[in-house]
Amino acid sequence: MGWFSSDIDTFDELFVHTLQDIYYAEHQIEKSLPDMIAKASDAELKKAFRMHLKQTKGQIKRLDRVFKMIKSIPQGTECPAIDGIIEEADEIADEIEDKVVLNAALIAAAQAIEHYEITRYGTLVAWAKVLKRNDVAKILNMTLKEEKATDKKLGGIAKRKINAKAAARHLRKPSRGEKAENALLDVAAGIPAI
Ligand SMILES: [Fe+2]
Ligand SMILES: [Fe+2]
Repeated sequence: MGWFSSDIDTFDELFVHTLQDIYYAEHQIEKSLPDMIAKASDAELKKAFRMHLKQTKGQIKRLDRVFKMIKSIPQGTECPAIDGIIEEADEIADEIEDKVVLNAALIAAAQAIEHYEITRYGTLVAWAKVLKRNDVAKILNMTLKEEKATDKKLGGIAKRKINAKAAARHLRKPSRGEKAENALLDVAAGIPAI
């Protein structure tokens, strides 16, 4: 690529590039979900991950369809963003021994993945409409809805039980000495005693 040329010149090419980006991302997610299912120890969370793996396979098929509709070959383009999110999730999971705390970490990681997908699909739906491809926008919007619903579902599981369980895990009452030390630190920080 030289100074006066670029791999992406037109809006159509930008659309295809972004489609390839999410195609790559979906395949990486498909690969990482079985590991997340194995690591989750909460039955409801396991089930939610399992369901999303099934959905993800369907979403890849939808993307295959979209590539065909725009007469392009289905292929991915490396996406460092999703690789980074998944890599970070793996690293954190490896550091957590407590199964309950791990469930909270898994949800947080999965929600980061969903948010990435939501931003990509949101853009693609908007662009498909501008490109007068409402047929394509409609298909991509089906996936966007699934990603949003998954994010909401995971957030609900976290809020309803996982986060509180994880917080209660190592929560212990501070000793009298720690309490006094905390009070002194609060005064120093200008935090009024409640
Ligand atoms: Fe997806
Ligand atoms: Fe997803």
